[in-house]
Amino acid sequence: MESIIEFKKGGQADLGSYIDKKIKSNMNISPIQSLDKIKWDFKDSQTQYLTHKYHSYPARFIPQIPRAFIQLFTKEGDTILDPFCGCGTTLVESTLLKRHSIGNDFNPLATLLSKVKTTSLSDQQLIKIDSLIKLIEARIKKNNLKESDLPELPSRNISKLFSKEMLKELQVIKNIVKTVEAEDKNLHNYLLIALSATIRAIIESENGDNILGIFERKLNQMNNLMREYRETAHKTDIKLINGDARKLDISSESVDLIVTSPPYVNALDYYRVHMYNMLWLGMDYNEFKINEIGGHSHFLANRFRLLAEYLGDMLRAMIEMNRVLKDGKYCAIVVGNSSIDYEMIESYKHFISMAKYIGFEHIKTIFRNINKSSKYFVNGKIDDEYIVVLRKIKNSEGLASDEDFIAKIVLKEMQNFRSKVEKKPGSSTRGKEVSAKRLKYNLVKIDEAIEKINKDIKIKGN
Ligand SMILES: C[S@@+](CC[C@H](N)C(=O)[O-])C[C@H]1O[C@@H](n2cnc3c(N)ncnc32)[C@H](O)[C@@H]1O
Repeated sequence: MESIIEFKKGGQADLGSYIDKKIKSNMNISPIQSLDKIKWDFKDSQTQYLTHKYHSYPARFIPQIPRAFIQLFTKEGDTILDPFCGCGTTLVESTLLKRHSIGNDFNPLATLLSKVKTTSLSDQQLIKIDSLIKLIEARIKKNNLKESDLPELPSRNISKLFSKEMLKELQVIKNIVKTVEAEDKNLHNYLLIALSATIRAIIESENGDNILGIFERKLNQMNNLMREYRETAHKTDIKLINGDARKLDISSESVDLIVTSPPYVNALDYYRVHMYNMLWLGMDYNEFKINEIGGHSHFLANRFRLLAEYLGDMLRAMIEMNRVLKDGKYCAIVVGNSSIDYEMIESYKHFISMAKYIGFEHIKTIFRNINKSSKYFVNGKIDDEYIVVLRKIKNSEGLASDEDFIAKIVLKEMQNFRSKVEKKPGSSTRGKEVSAKRLKYNLVKIDEAIEKINKDIKIKGN
C-alpha cells in the first residue's frame, strides 16, 4: 500500500507540519487507518533535535513514535501519559504539540531529566552559568578538598576509571552546583543534568582528562538547544511523578492517550547503567534496583522466574493504564522481543493476550525494524519491535493490587509459554549449537517458575 504519511528527513517542525498537512488532506481516513500509512521504520528521520539531545538514555524511543500517536489520537489541550517516561520523549513531544502531559518513572534520574527537558530557562538564568564556571575553575585550581570529602564508589571495574583527581574535580562541580539550589531550583536541576551527562561522557569515552571542559561544552550545547526549544515549545501543564507504574498516583479516567515503552524483560538494568550518575546526584539506586521491572539482577538462577515476575508487573502496570484512561481512549505500548536461555520471549503477544482480561480491546499491532546502528538498539539483543495498540472498552474487573487475579492470568501466560517451548524449543538460539538436553532442562526451570508464581508476582520491597 502506498504510504501517504511519511516523515521527512529534518527537524521536528518540518515533520509536524508534514503530518498535519497529510492528516488534514485525508480527513476521510480514520486515525486507525492512518496508522497503516505510516512508515514506522523512520529510516532517514532526524531523531535527536531540541532537548531530546541533552542526555543519552538507553532504549529510549524515537520521538516520531509518540508524535504520530499524539497527532492522530488527541487534540490540543488533551492529556497524554507515559507511565515509563524514561528521559521524557513523550513529554517533550506533547509540549511541542500543545498537549498537557504526565510522566511517571521509578528512576529519579529519568524524572529529573524529563523535567529539565521540558522546563524553559530564560537568558537571564542561562547567563549565570558563565560566572559559575569561573568559580569552579578557581576552586579546582585551589585544590583544597580532602579525601574524606569524596564519595565512596561501588566496587565495580568502572570505578577504577575515576582517579582521585577526577573525583575532586567532580566534587567541586557538585559543590558549586549545590549553591544554586536555594535561589533557582530550575537552574540547579539543569546543571545537575549537565553534570550527569558529563559523567556519562567520561564513562562512555573512558577518559576524564578535562572534566570541566566536558561540563562546559555540555552546557554550551544545552544552552543552544534550550534557546531553540523555548522558541518552539508551548505553555502546557507537565506533571512528573517519581513513582511506580504498578500503582500510579494519577486520578482514574483522567488521561486521553497513553504512549509508552516499558522495560524489556532480561534486557538491561537501568539501575546499573545509571549507578554513577545517581550516586553523584545523591539518588538512591538500591531502592530503584528492587523496584525495577524486568531487571537482570532478579532471579539469577532461574530466568524463567524473572519472566513470571515481569508478566505480573506488566499486568499490574496495564491495569493501572486502563484505570487512568478515559473510556474509549487509546494506549500504544512499544516493546521488543528478548530471550531467556535460548527461548524467544515475545512480550507483545503476552501483552495482547493479557489486555483482553482487563478491559482493553486489541486494535492492531505494528511491526517496526530498529536501526541497529543507532544508540537506541539495546545490547545487540533486540532487533525489531512491536507497537501494540489497545483501546479501553471498560474498567478492569481485577485491580492492580489483587494478587489472586494477577497470579491467575500470569499462570495462563506461563502455561502457554511452556507449550510453545515444548513444541519448538530453542526459538532464540541465534545460530548457537545448544544440546537437546539443555533445552529440555528449560522445561524443568519453567515448571519451577510456574510453581512459584504466587510468590514471585508479589511486589518486592513492600
Ligand atoms: C524503555 S525505558 C523508557 C524509555 C522512554 N520511552 C524514553 O523515550 O526515554 C523503560 C523505563 O521504565 C522505567 N521503569 C522500570 N521499572 C519501573 C517501575 N516499576 N515503575 C516505573 N518505571 C519503571 C525505567 O527506569 C526506564 O526509564
